[in-house]
Amino acid sequence: MASATPSIHAGPIFDIAPPSCVSDTLDERVSYRTALIGLSWIAADPAAPASDPVLGTAVPGSHASAMAAIPEIEVVAGCDIAPAARDRFIQHWGGRWHGLRVYDDYHTMLERERPDIVAIVTPDHLHTSPLLAAIEFGARGIFCEKPLATSLDEADQIVAAAASSGVAVCVDYTRRWMPEFVEARRRIRSGAIGRLSQIILQLGGPRAMLFRNHTHMIDLLNYYADADAEWVVAELEPDLSDYGTTYRGDGGADPSTDPGANYYVAFANGVRAYVSGMKDTVPDLRVDLIGARGRLSLDAEGFRLITFESEDVRTTPPVTRIQRLSPTWTVSGIQAAMLDLIAAMQTGRETASPPESARRTVAITQAILESQARGNAPVRVARVP
Ligand SMILES: NC(=O)c1ccc[n+]([C@@H]2O[C@H](COP(=O)([O-])OP(=O)(O)OC[C@H]3O[C@@H](n4cnc5c(N)ncnc54)[C@H](O)[C@@H]3O)[C@@H](O)[C@H]2O)c1
Repeated sequence: MASATPSIHAGPIFDIAPPSCVSDTLDERVSYRTALIGLSWIAADPAAPASDPVLGTAVPGSHASAMAAIPEIEVVAGCDIAPAARDRFIQHWGGRWHGLRVYDDYHTMLERERPDIVAIVTPDHLHTSPLLAAIEFGARGIFCEKPLATSLDEADQIVAAAASSGVAVCVDYTRRWMPEFVEARRRIRSGAIGRLSQIILQLGGPRAMLFRNHTHMIDLLNYYADADAEWVVAELEPDLSDYGTTYRGDGGADPSTDPGANYYVAFANGVRAYVSGMKDTVPDLRVDLIGARGRLSLDAEGFRLITFESEDVRTTPPVTRIQRLSPTWTVSGIQAAMLDLIAAMQTGRETASPPESARRTVAITQAILESQARGNAPVRVARVP
């Protein structure tokens, strides 16, 4: 079993420095026995080829490829109910982690292997039971795919279980470990655009599904607004306008079971957010973060800080400055998230994506469904009970 080593980094780190500093917090002698539940492509794909065979690197896109890049992680087992997924996992990763075992039942795996870290990579609506089982069988760190849960009830169960057990939980809202998204938050906090007032996001394409990909957008609203959401007005895509107030998806495969949506969210600190996210649009992601002095924009054209200065806007056109930003880190995405989880396990600090924060995303998702069900009326967002 791994031993925890207290570290000098006690606070959340991703607001103040790129994640290369996480490695400084790790005790390199520690090895964490790790297991995955759910072995699909996002869990188990091999790393993409490097851009250059000698100098290039590729950001690991899957859980296993991210874990393979972290010496402190030893993957001992994986579980999937699909035999083909288990076979692929052994085929791709058996050479990297000798003695790697596969299971078709996660209870059996958790009982036999007693992993230190468990990654939950099951379909969207099947995270709660394996996560609670991982806590029950003694995991010390859990990396859970998004969304945390598809009902508030389940999200509350997870938050309560994590708090009472002291287990570190990190929810994979991957943009929380991507340089542009983190840098945007840092710029806001340093006053680059004045006080953040408006957040406008656009998510498009056939997989603009509320519980599947919109959940990343809702998380970004929480990440940037940094306050409790108070109320929501929403409209679901016309084909699913009678969706109701409980999840009816199939885990994230079929878009016809999970609605696109437009919604407006009001936060307690005055920040207002609008998300345009219907499916009959291009598969695009645009982020605009707007204050009185400037705007941070992130889209297919890159990442920009645009500032507007004027002595008197009534009489003089503002001087507009466009600064192109390109923050780079040595690690990002899931690999950085796993390092964040390990640092949280070692220090007792929160991860950059704790369950309490992911629960806020579930609460907004629920309010979106309820607004639609009540004829697009404003709906209060449920706070932690
Ligand atoms: N963070 C990201 O950017 C990102 C990207 C893609 C997917 N995801 C998330 O990853 C998760 C998995 O997505 P997916 O597209 O691979 O889903 P999927 O439904 O294709 O695959 C999930 C895997 O879990 C297995 N499974 C189902 N029930 C199981 C059980 N009881 N025990 C063990 N295995 C079980 C399935 O056989 C399958 O191999 C979802 O929550 C999804 O939202 C996140």
